[in-house]
Amino acid sequence: MKKLMNLALPIMCIGASFANADAIENRIDVLLETMTIDQKVGQLALRDFGTYSAEQLPELKAQIRRGEVGGFLNVSFSSVDDNAFAELQKIAVEESPQGIPLIFGQDVIHGYETIFPIPLGQAASWNPELVKKGARIAAKEATTDGIRWTFAPMIDISHDPRWGRIAETLGEDPYLASVLGVAMTMGFQTDDPTRPDAMAASAKHFIGYGAAEAGRDYNAAYIPEARLRDIFLPPFKAAVDAGLMTIMSSYNTLNDIPATANKHALKTILRDEWGFDGFVVSDWNAVMEMLPHGFARDAKHAAELSANAGIDFEMYTDTYQKFLPELIEEGKFTEAKLDQAVRHMLRIKMRLGLWDNPYPRGNRDTVILSDEHRQAAREAARESFVLLKNDNSVLPLNKEAKIALVGPLANVPHEQLGTWIYNGDKKDSVSLVPALEQYLGGNESFTFVKGLEYSRDTSTQNFNKAVEAAQQADVIVYVGGEESILSGEGHSRADIALPGAQQELVKALSETGKPLVTVIMAGRPIELGPVLDQSDAIMMAWHPGTMAGPALVDVLYGDYSPVGRLPITWPKGEGQIPIYYNRMATGRPATEDNYTLIGDIEQGVFQHAPGNSSNHLDYGHEPEFPFGFGLTYSDVDYSNLVIPSSRVALGETIRASATVKNTGKVQTTEVVQLYIRDLVGTRTRPIRELKGFQRVTLAPGESQAIHFELPTEALAFHNQNMEKVTEPGDFELWIAKDAASGLKGRFTVYE
Ligand code: NOJ
Repeated sequence: MKKLMNLALPIMCIGASFANADAIENRIDVLLETMTIDQKVGQLALRDFGTYSAEQLPELKAQIRRGEVGGFLNVSFSSVDDNAFAELQKIAVEESPQGIPLIFGQDVIHGYETIFPIPLGQAASWNPELVKKGARIAAKEATTDGIRWTFAPMIDISHDPRWGRIAETLGEDPYLASVLGVAMTMGFQTDDPTRPDAMAASAKHFIGYGAAEAGRDYNAAYIPEARLRDIFLPPFKAAVDAGLMTIMSSYNTLNDIPATANKHALKTILRDEWGFDGFVVSDWNAVMEMLPHGFARDAKHAAELSANAGIDFEMYTDTYQKFLPELIEEGKFTEAKLDQAVRHMLRIKMRLGLWDNPYPRGNRDTVILSDEHRQAAREAARESFVLLKNDNSVLPLNKEAKIALVGPLANVPHEQLGTWIYNGDKKDSVSLVPALEQYLGGNESFTFVKGLEYSRDTSTQNFNKAVEAAQQADVIVYVGGEESILSGEGHSRADIALPGAQQELVKALSETGKPLVTVIMAGRPIELGPVLDQSDAIMMAWHPGTMAGPALVDVLYGDYSPVGRLPITWPKGEGQIPIYYNRMATGRPATEDNYTLIGDIEQGVFQHAPGNSSNHLDYGHEPEFPFGFGLTYSDVDYSNLVIPSSRVALGETIRASATVKNTGKVQTTEVVQLYIRDLVGTRTRPIRELKGFQRVTLAPGESQAIHFELPTEALAFHNQNMEKVTEPGDFELWIAKDAASGLKGRFTVYE
């Protein structure tokens, strides 16, 4: 009885006292005093509603009633009841001992019902505002169902496009992923997470998941400490500094320690060094996966390892509930640590204002898939497209030209949505065929022939029809790539060429001699091989989402000039992987005039005669397309690089500017990129590092001076003692269109 009386005060006041961090901690103290060990452990239980059968629901509800569930994932697409949010919450709030609200989470990754481009596509926009807006819209939609927590942003760095989950990343670069990761976090959370339409973000996967060996999902990752800190951790650190509320640990082992039990990452770095005060959730089933990893002996040992390492919220499995109480009795875990984990949970629930707003809010009918949201998805899609080739200005298309539209992905509303679209529905998405019909007003100026039934189809039986259509057209638009299911979790490929008989189909089309525009929808860069030469134009469209069709029409017909730039280096083939622009200098760098190709080697030649430099005999040393690359329907000239003061003291700011001029005939948006190279370091330094970018829209003939400011702290890296330092010395600097070109200058940092 005493317990219950104690409770009235904290529960009533919690929401109202959000503004005061001390008040939150005091409320948590009071709550903790009232809770039994089982109730505390209950707060650490994240149940997957999608895995429950109707028969199991009564017992589940009884557990909530006893205060033994902290939250749920996957309520909105359960086969039992996808609308159980309010019902489950009511039990927690009104019938459980402390009345602590549940937190509902889900993978709301690139939209809820209005689907935006896959994150890698959004990253190609290099537009933080747009990324933020996409997350805001996703949050507005998801919160109408009561989902106040999303498992995004995914800010893993990966150098391996074989890895299926590269589709979910924000690109290969720590700076770009930091800027966009913060934008996405803020879009979900807003400055006031108590808003009923705000969601807690969960940056994932902590840490090193994108370094899976051979790009095979869930595989071991080996990352030296300095590299971890300079390349893989910065996007997470940036998100934490911006107020990130939760973090998800990863499935992989990092240097042979499962991330789920990695004290170095979860305690030393995240809590002690960064001061992160939100909660850490394990990945789904990851606690128990320490058994097949060969790291935990049994479920109890797994609970002991992950709880002691700092995993607060156990996703899906129930080892905490089963074993933490006895582990405490045995002295293998402590109640103080348990309280700390519960504190992390309650703190975030309070920061979300769940006591004031426990139930779904907002009007589904006016919010979900609203015109405004669809329009934003269309804008996001068109900004994500990257024009890779455009010989003879075959693009934009002429509205009068007769089009042969061919390909397995031109009219498949489902496949354009991409990976992780639990609530996205093909019935809401518009593909290219209806969008073209509408744009061209049904004047029969295009013919559509699939050619292949789906992206992996190997049957050539419909090629004739496609070729016939092509012969009668002025221009061919081929839309191929990968179905959604070929990227994403557990969907890595060893061969990243176009699947099925697509290469043969493109070849057959190109042999008609008609101009050929190839549009690729895929979750990763594709090995183009002969398709590159056979196509007159190539546009990478990623998986563009709900509004793929209208967005493609916008860009193909030139109502909008492409603005996307590669957030990732595009390889010639798998043999170049791992591939990334910010690689370390070698002692024998290949240069334009110092590398050997296989065909240049004379038979029987003395071993060293062709010269030894760091390249591949068959591919050379350059990627197919560099990081940052993307064409537009205009041309932009870079000139007049100015570094007003080429000597700067440590702690001061380097300034640099250049003039960019639109020399083409249409308005264009240029992504002006700032790179540096630290010429000599106590560790070897990357040959280039992105340190800034600005998007500027230029009318034809317009020029603008673009100014960058870079504090010397931005040049810091981890030295041999793991201290983050800027070392005085000489640097190169580029203001550039991409990572392989640019105006080059120098500056010196002195002590
Ligand atoms: C496993 C995935 O690795 C993770 O990204 C996702 O958020 C969880 N499952 C929950 O669905």
